Amino acid sequence: KKGSYDHFMQKEIHEQPHSLTTTMRGRLKDGGVLLGGLKEHLKTIRRCRRVVFIGCGTSYNAALAARPFVEELTGIPVTMEVASDLLDRQGPIYREDTAVFVSQSGETADTLLALDYALENGALCVGITNTVGSTLSRKTHCGVHINAGCEIGVASTKAYTSQIVAMAMMALAIGSDQISSQGRRNAIISGLTRLPSCVSEVLKLDAEMKELASSLIDSESLLVFGRGYNYATALEGALKVKEVALMHSEGMLAGEMKHGPLALVDENLPIIVIATRDACFSKQQSVIQQLLSRKGRLIVMCSKGDASAVCPNGSCRVIEVPGVADCLQPVINIIPLQLLAYHLTVLRGFDVDQPRNLAKSVTTQ
Ligand code: UD1
Ligand code: BG6
Ligand code: NA
Repeated sequence: KKGSYDHFMQKEIHEQPHSLTTTMRGRLKDGGVLLGGLKEHLKTIRRCRRVVFIGCGTSYNAALAARPFVEELTGIPVTMEVASDLLDRQGPIYREDTAVFVSQSGETADTLLALDYALENGALCVGITNTVGSTLSRKTHCGVHINAGCEIGVASTKAYTSQIVAMAMMALAIGSDQISSQGRRNAIISGLTRLPSCVSEVLKLDAEMKELASSLIDSESLLVFGRGYNYATALEGALKVKEVALMHSEGMLAGEMKHGPLALVDENLPIIVIATRDACFSKQQSVIQQLLSRKGRLIVMCSKGDASAVCPNGSCRVIEVPGVADCLQPVINIIPLQLLAYHLTVLRGFDVDQPRNLAKSVTTQ
């Protein structure tokens, strides 16, 4: 089943050009988006007061990656809920809400309990899941199967990128009645069609990420700074490193750097800064300058050709990635971090597919 790969996680990382293709298959039509599972409900969703994203772990991070483009393309306010925290707070959910539940397995206990809670409160409940016939798929009013194929590695990789793409198509479908943003939607649709080949290209960084992993093997901690479209990339990259490589890692909002994290910076702590091209680029350039002036040990992820723009004095390690439409860039940017986490795990001698203490599907509270 693993074919020529040593581990399922490795296989699943490398099959993303294919899994993303199957996620989109038959759904991008005549320059528009057709999601069979949502089309009867689009009118209701467009009228809702807010979208509430609910999930756990990597699925929560995928929803966080989707938040900026859902807000932009639909104009509907989006709030984020970790499923267990919504339940702990018994947070308000209303009939006028669209609650979007994101879960690879469709069987995560907290997510399903949050679904029961949202159903009781009368919200329209939408599922984004990889598992046809799962409890989530059955109990939600409607939804989208991401069709990424079976995922076996406990650390989610291909499901993450397919979830983001499914939510991008969902946002395009909800926003499709807005004439003024047709040009923007067309650009994103053409970005989606280019995505599998861009993913193939970024996967060529495999050897470079293995080399980077070998330089980090003895680090105690790894920080990842992101913002805007790539705040979620920072959280998800750090989650991969901690869950499989068993190394402490935190994803952080770069905009919060001065409010605490800056105190940690010295010449030893490795810090990844995500600084690919988008509206936040110049802000990230200034974050890099401030980290360098405190002798930070930086690894900067930037768009192809931007190495000297992000690190003029050449003192950072640079990861150059291909560019796609800004809101889809998280799909590309997570891949080097998946590869890094994978190689770090192998080099540190830990179990890749069955990380210590973790389970693929957490079906109890
Ligand atoms: C469906 C078929 C697909 C077929 C295509 C042809 C299924 C599972 N899918 O795909 O095989 O090729 O039509 O047009 O038979 N749903 C939920 N909650 C979820 C996910 C989905 O309620 O979390 C519902 C949807 O609202 C929909 C149904 O499940 O009613 C199938 O969803 P999906 O597979 O995404 O629909 P299509 O892409 O149209
Ligand atoms: C578990 C898995 O913690 O559940 C994670 O180890 C996953 O990889 C999380 O992200 C949520 O799972 P699901 O199936 O609801 O997406
Ligand atoms: Na359903």
